[in-house]
Amino acid sequence: MKQIRDNEALMAEIGRIAEVAGYLWTKGWAERNGGNISVNVTSLLSDEERSLPALTPAKPLPERMTALSGHVFYVTGTGKRMRYVAQAPFENGALIRVSADGSSYELIAEQPILPTSELPSHLMMHNYLRAQGRDNRVVLHTHPTDLIGMTHCRRFLDSDVLTHLLWSMIPECRIIVPKGIGIVPYEIPGTVELAHATIRQLERHDVVFWEKHGILAVGEDIIECFDAIDTLSKSAQIYFSARLASGEEPEGMTQQQLNDLVPAFGL
Ligand code: 13P
Ligand code: ZN
Repeated sequence: MKQIRDNEALMAEIGRIAEVAGYLWTKGWAERNGGNISVNVTSLLSDEERSLPALTPAKPLPERMTALSGHVFYVTGTGKRMRYVAQAPFENGALIRVSADGSSYELIAEQPILPTSELPSHLMMHNYLRAQGRDNRVVLHTHPTDLIGMTHCRRFLDSDVLTHLLWSMIPECRIIVPKGIGIVPYEIPGTVELAHATIRQLERHDVVFWEKHGILAVGEDIIECFDAIDTLSKSAQIYFSARLASGEEPEGMTQQQLNDLVPAFGL
């Protein structure tokens, strides 16, 4: 039997995960073990790889996830540092397989690394998005200082207000994050309550802010998920710079200027 590392398509995807983990660290968004990543790699595996023997006994999931039956995910490990995920993704993360009935998961490769404490929420989101037929392979959670800082300000804790403010700082934000952002009021990290509240926001958005905690992006491609958060962070930086420069509320692009981007970029 070949080793899982002989699968070139899988290793290319793992390489992209490692690339993004490195960005999260260099951006200053990943203190200690801050943030976590899960990517559905099922389509990259052979039947034999999908049926690898379990390394550990099955662990129950908080809900049955029937849209994920038999699916395999790369997930970062709990307590693992993004700067080390970047260097050694299989020593700081693992492949897990959801059972055929969607009620449990088992670790299948390469080492028995305990998955992120946010695994229930990640899988609940993957399950929801697949059941909706949305192209989604990636859930990326990280701790960007500037965006979390904004969630400490009461007046920004409104999806429409914060979306408009961040969109209006630079045209690219309107283009790269076309569905705007959702906001979830503070919940204890890793809980199903946080997962349910996030899923409600995913009905209309691909990026969700967790009050006083972090940001979560879902999508088809891990680089695109990173780019969406990075662009929002750039908008926040422009907002802070403009405020510091003048001491006044920045003007921002006008509603007309924002609206004109819609036909121009087919949004
Ligand atoms: P884990 O180390 O369990 O992934 O937790 C990090 C985190 O950011 C929790 O929200
Ligand atoms: Zn977190």
